[in-house]
Amino acid sequence: MSQSTPRSSTPISPGDETKTPRGVVLKTAIPGPKGKKIVAADTRFLQTSTKTSPVVAESASGVWVNDVDGNRLLDFTSGVGVVNTGHCHPDVVAAIREQAGRLMHFAGTDYYYENQVRLAERLTGLIPGDFAKKVFFTNSGTESVEAALKIARWNRQRPITIGLLGAFHGRSMGSLTMTASKPTQRARFQPFTGGGHHIPPPYCYRCPYQLEFPSCDLYCAKILKELYFETSIPPEDVAAFIAEPVMGEGGYVVPPKGWFRAMKSILDEHGILFIDDEVQAGFGRTGKWFGIEHHGVTPDIVATAKALGSGLPIGAMVFRKELDYPHQGAHSNTFGGNLVAVAGALATLDVLEREKLIENSRVQGEHLIARLRELQQKHEEIGDVRGLGLMVATEFIKGARDKTPDVALRDRVIEESYRRGLVLLPCGKSSIRYIPPLVIRGPEVDEGVEILDAAITAARRRG
Ligand SMILES: Cc1ncc(COP(=O)(O)O)c(C=O)c1O
Repeated sequence: MSQSTPRSSTPISPGDETKTPRGVVLKTAIPGPKGKKIVAADTRFLQTSTKTSPVVAESASGVWVNDVDGNRLLDFTSGVGVVNTGHCHPDVVAAIREQAGRLMHFAGTDYYYENQVRLAERLTGLIPGDFAKKVFFTNSGTESVEAALKIARWNRQRPITIGLLGAFHGRSMGSLTMTASKPTQRARFQPFTGGGHHIPPPYCYRCPYQLEFPSCDLYCAKILKELYFETSIPPEDVAAFIAEPVMGEGGYVVPPKGWFRAMKSILDEHGILFIDDEVQAGFGRTGKWFGIEHHGVTPDIVATAKALGSGLPIGAMVFRKELDYPHQGAHSNTFGGNLVAVAGALATLDVLEREKLIENSRVQGEHLIARLRELQQKHEEIGDVRGLGLMVATEFIKGARDKTPDVALRDRVIEESYRRGLVLLPCGKSSIRYIPPLVIRGPEVDEGVEILDAAITAARRRG
């Protein structure tokens, strides 16, 4: 059952000017009086982290989030790329409830139970690669990346991992070694685990080499072999290369056609493992099960998390079977493969399949990109519209003749959007990402784009 339309739709009473004619309902400013109190208490008691907007959620269904002041907001963030099946999908909720009442935890790394075996088998079938695979369950994206970096290093017994400038792989120390998205994520945390090298990304809109695709002949891939391997990075010391199929936090950068293939052939020459970070792009977000399927290469190791559990903390590192540790004890954890999280994940995969949400991601993604391109015609500050499936972003610039990133405008657009009932997230230097739950329908995409249109106009006026 798809539940993008609210199950108990809130009536819109006539005469209330703050209410829009569609799904968004605004009864107070955002945040309202209750929300403001919670924001103040949060600021007092919680560590400063990465807060984007003062939206204080109380309940949610499908693409709709109800805040504590009775407002209903349109969620174009999916709780940071997590609820691909929509908020509180009834089948996922039922599976979680049922499992929680029977057995919640029994340390699947140390003992045995059936549901994690079922999930592991299913994941090995879904992850690209026509070869035997195995799975290690984790509790987050960064932990999946850590597990991937460790198994690569253990197997190759080489100290170096190469990543991309602009990439985000998590914030624990191993993952942070490979994260190079923003200076603030790395400042004052050195030294990292060592062995991390980064090369410039395949970012065509702002090509680091000022070249143009395709006449560039994929220089940004070839440079690994022709410059780095000839100067600073001995390839025989490299265990792995790690990359996202679409660079997420770094700005929703989609590598050009052929880039991954060119990279993979260089890696293969030197026995370097390819780690595909699908934490944000996985489970249908890009219109395919996994983002790497757009690029025609097969990873050796895949890191996943986020959407796997529809909101329960679970991740999985899936790898070529021959990379498995030959003895007990090299790597493990306590909560990985937690029974309730696994039950939520199994139900998530069922929903993605049964409701054809991956196809919906492709169809609605194309619709969203087309609508954003219309906005680009109207607002010259939208420099670029890019993405795959429902993993879409717009990059904000100063204007048609000035490609300088307009960070302040981007931030004001996000603010004007949530004030009108559309919740958004930034990415890259001056981009906004649009990642609604994959249950979204055309009219909801249209409503979001219309709010965005008004928000851009208001943000420009304020500037
Ligand atoms: C591509 C990618 N890898 C890793 C991570 C880290 O995941 P987590 O925040 O669950 O540790 C993220 C989080 O945004 C991500 O987008």
